Amino acid sequence: MFSTPLPAELRSLLERLLVQAQADLSGSDLETFSLRLERYLPELYTGLKPVYADAEGLLERLLPILVTAYRARPADLKRLDAKRLLAPDWFQRPEMIAYVAYTERFAGTLKGIEERLDYLEELGVRYLHLMPFLKPRPAPHDGGYAVMDYRAVREDLGTMDDLEALTAKLRARGIALCCDLVLNHVAQEHEWAVRARAGEAKYQHYFHMFSDRTLPDEYEKTLPEVFPDFAPGNFTFDEASGKWVWTTFNRWQWDLNWANPEVFLEFADLILWLANRGVEVFRLDAIAFIWKRLGTNCQNQPEVHAITQALRAVARIVAPAVLFKAEAIVAPDDLIHYLGQGEHFGLVSDTAYHNSLMVQIWSSLASRDVRLMSEALRRFPVKPTNTAWCTYLRCHDDIGWAIADDDAARVGLSGEAHRRFLSDYYSGRFPTSPSRGLVFQENPRTGDRRISGSGASLAGLEQALEQNDPRQVHLSLERLLLGHAVVLGFGGIPLLYMGDELALLNDYSYLEEPEHAEDNRWVHRPHMDWAKAARAKADPASPEGRMYHGLLHLIRVRRSTPHFHAALEAQILEPRNPHVFGYVRRHPLGNLVALYNFSEEVQYYPAEVLWQQGLSLPLDRISGQLVPIEHHLVRLEPYARLWITDEKG
Ligand code: GLC
Repeated sequence: MFSTPLPAELRSLLERLLVQAQADLSGSDLETFSLRLERYLPELYTGLKPVYADAEGLLERLLPILVTAYRARPADLKRLDAKRLLAPDWFQRPEMIAYVAYTERFAGTLKGIEERLDYLEELGVRYLHLMPFLKPRPAPHDGGYAVMDYRAVREDLGTMDDLEALTAKLRARGIALCCDLVLNHVAQEHEWAVRARAGEAKYQHYFHMFSDRTLPDEYEKTLPEVFPDFAPGNFTFDEASGKWVWTTFNRWQWDLNWANPEVFLEFADLILWLANRGVEVFRLDAIAFIWKRLGTNCQNQPEVHAITQALRAVARIVAPAVLFKAEAIVAPDDLIHYLGQGEHFGLVSDTAYHNSLMVQIWSSLASRDVRLMSEALRRFPVKPTNTAWCTYLRCHDDIGWAIADDDAARVGLSGEAHRRFLSDYYSGRFPTSPSRGLVFQENPRTGDRRISGSGASLAGLEQALEQNDPRQVHLSLERLLLGHAVVLGFGGIPLLYMGDELALLNDYSYLEEPEHAEDNRWVHRPHMDWAKAARAKADPASPEGRMYHGLLHLIRVRRSTPHFHAALEAQILEPRNPHVFGYVRRHPLGNLVALYNFSEEVQYYPAEVLWQQGLSLPLDRISGQLVPIEHHLVRLEPYARLWITDEKG
């Protein structure tokens, strides 16, 4: 993680590269560039070496890309680099709040976003992830995840100039822009694919193309299907070239061949180019899939991490303000590698989605039992201290029930039966369920059923409002606030998904949109309801008002609680009551214990746990009150959430 003296074998390589750099850089630019190159060369080299046969030759080709991008980096972005280098933990701090939105659904266009910056600032947003806005193929394009041109903006959203203007405005307010970097695949209409289809060998090597089914059939033996329903199989026959093409997702999303160093160079250049337009965070979409190996599920292969390490070093040399966020929705033991383990410890992505936390929150809300959640999270590997989890309750994707069979077994559950229960519960089939989720990608072969639906509809608000049942309205809002409290209080970068701050319900209008009707993930990708937003602010007693103000309060409390710095771990407490989830965050200022009642009944929890953590005068920072203790037991109201520190602390 820390700079070590340059190994002897890299010295002459560095010298050669520096001579190359001197041709185009001088003065303080040359000095800064040289220092960074020396600092990051080991990471770059050890990233490339296990993947590409001629790492040194590749570095010599990479250098002009780095130099050109460094020269082109605008002065205010260089200033941002300097600022971030002075505060490398900027994204780990408790004031960090991210907001995730579709540009068109939130504000129409990129220019429209500029009009909404006050709204975001009021929520405390410090990081804005706009869903794919680079130019996609004509619809359908998987919500923009089939990019046709990475150097152009989707026409109905604006232009590259608009993007640059927006990033400048965001920067002025201290908000970082996050852009999706789809690096597993491109649209079949992307120039590389067009030229591959036309038979150009150079571009055919950018993809995985096969003249017959022999190899595809071999690979298929161990490959899962991501979209078994609307895109079964992993290969598509391309009429134009007469070849089978690897298409993990939809047939028009062509997987790239990262074993080809040209692909690496293209993306290195692209990342720097976009960083120079003001993008600060790259969401590495479907990163788990970029390396293929026969006989495996072709996910999480070691080369994925080596390549990420090299790309990150590229970004650090030219644009150290840039962060990488891994989108790897994989099992915990695989996931931790995206933040770096072993030789890559702390050298790959700065943040990664904590998919397990999200799944476990919904699982415990359904079962009213936190034992599985506590067990699964207790066993979660420790992350490098210079990284942060992205914690979230909902996102634009469906929820897949990533419950490990052995975690389930350890708390006496069958993984398979529990996953079935969760699908039944959230699709509203389970008798007492108030949920209005939709089944996504039912896989008859594996029995897998994923779930779409907005947080509010999953938590029961849609049904409660329809039935005009104030108690159920109250309970569903409490469930949502409980979920958000875990997300905000776990430590990491909390991602608020647009509309969740108003408890927006499922939006069924996707059924009338021909390009979306078949993909029910659009049910939870609503249009922003600005009238509701205004009502929420004006009427704190309305459901949206309770949600908005409740969330805002949690955000404010979080901001003033240093214990939520992401460098620290949440250490899971043994569930002394099966309905109460708890953890401790140890901080030099004193410990913070968080307790969450996942049931609609009053619960009691042994107060000695607080005393053992040194909290003799336990104060709940959310209510600002001393924690209610009766007969040595903490009393937790239905769905209570407590962030407890010592009053003296
Ligand atoms: C990611 C996105 C998802 C998309 C897929 C293919 O998982 O979150 O929406 O379908 O990548 O790009």
